[in-house]
Amino acid sequence: MSISANGISDDVVLSAEGLRKSFGRGETAVTALDDISVDFEAGRFSAIMGPSGSGKSTLMHVLAGLDRVDSGTITMSGRDITTLNDRQLTQLRRDRVGFIFQAFNLVPTLSAEQNIELPVSLARKRIDRDWKAEVVERLELGDRLKHRPHELSGGQQQRVAVARALLTRPDVIYADEPTGNLDSHSGTEVLSLLHGATTRYGQSIIMVTHDPMAASHADRVVLLKDGRAGGEVRQPTRESVVSALSELSDQ
Ligand SMILES: Nc1ncnc2c1ncn2[C@@H]1O[C@H](COP(=O)(O)OP(=O)(O)OP(=O)(O)O)[C@@H](O)[C@H]1O
Ligand SMILES: [Mg+2]
Repeated sequence: MSISANGISDDVVLSAEGLRKSFGRGETAVTALDDISVDFEAGRFSAIMGPSGSGKSTLMHVLAGLDRVDSGTITMSGRDITTLNDRQLTQLRRDRVGFIFQAFNLVPTLSAEQNIELPVSLARKRIDRDWKAEVVERLELGDRLKHRPHELSGGQQQRVAVARALLTRPDVIYADEPTGNLDSHSGTEVLSLLHGATTRYGQSIIMVTHDPMAASHADRVVLLKDGRAGGEVRQPTRESVVSALSELSDQ
């Protein structure tokens, strides 16, 4: 790993320092992020795990520039994104970042295919036909491309959201429970496509999951508890993740 003059590793795509975020005020205030510092390496598949309510989605939203922190810095490819204005954030999300949300956020009036191609068109990039064909085939969406989201099952909608994020080939893909609605066969296909995006195209993937099997496809698991960092597991296996989670809940 190379270290640049400013002491930050060149291989870190995303660096979060002292992140804090609360929702609400006074007695009903909830601290979602309580002084979190974490780095994510470029070209790696990272998972974020932790109990429900531990701050995983909130962390992902602020890292992606979808929501603002109360304090702390988030450096993406050398640039502090917490100081960007709304227009700059929109541009960052359009050009550099892809999302697979817990609710898939498909555009209801567009077909599956139009949804898949939308971010590429918005960024005025060219569609890589070969990559699209491979993604559509491996996600078994070939016979569903002309359907609109409400004509698709939950799992099919999720796979459309995965295809949409992959096709743009952004620097970073954020995925919140991308296999949550899928059977084990489609889930494995999604995880292997995400992993392939890191090795083939050098993209970085940050995935929230509750499933130790899904997490074992990642290069590293970052643990959260009560809005705080709770350690990490490198080269995770299902077993090492299960035991790290049970240690986390005993703490
Ligand atoms: N918009 C909001 N308004 C108020 N509180 C919120 C909001 N979003 C999140 N929270 C609170 O912040 C905390 C962290 O929520 P978050 O959604 O990040 O958890 P999570 O780890 O993603 O949980 P899950 O595994 O259930 O998806 C929770 O206590 C939640 O109730
Ligand atoms: Mg969540």
